[in-house]
Amino acid sequence: MPREFIVATTAEVVENEGRAFAVDNRMIAVFLHDGKYYAMDDFCPHMGASLAGGCLHQGTVACPWHAWQFDLKDGCWVDNPKIKAEVYPIKVVDENLVIELPD
Ligand code: FES
Repeated sequence: MPREFIVATTAEVVENEGRAFAVDNRMIAVFLHDGKYYAMDDFCPHMGASLAGGCLHQGTVACPWHAWQFDLKDGCWVDNPKIKAEVYPIKVVDENLVIELPD
C-alpha cells in the first residue's frame, strides 16, 4: 500500500520553480510547471545534483550540473529513457501538497 505524506503547502512552491523537501528519509523535488504539480526524487541519477535547482522548460527539468533533461511526468532522461528519476503521484488537498510514496 502506498503511503501519503503532506510534503508542503501550495504557497511554498511557486510557478516554474522547484523546491526540495525531506519526506520519509528522502529528498523529494516538487515542481509547479504550467499550473501543475510534479514530485520527483531530488537526486539526479547522473551524479546526484539537486534537481529542484534545475530549470523548467516544456515539461522537463534540466539538471543544474550537466543539463540532463528529465520529463516531469515520468522522470525519464529525454536522451535515454532507460535512465530515470523516480516520480511520485502528487495532489492538492486543501492548501497542502500530498504525495504518495511506495512501501
Ligand atoms: S548530475 Fe545531473 S546531469 Fe550530471
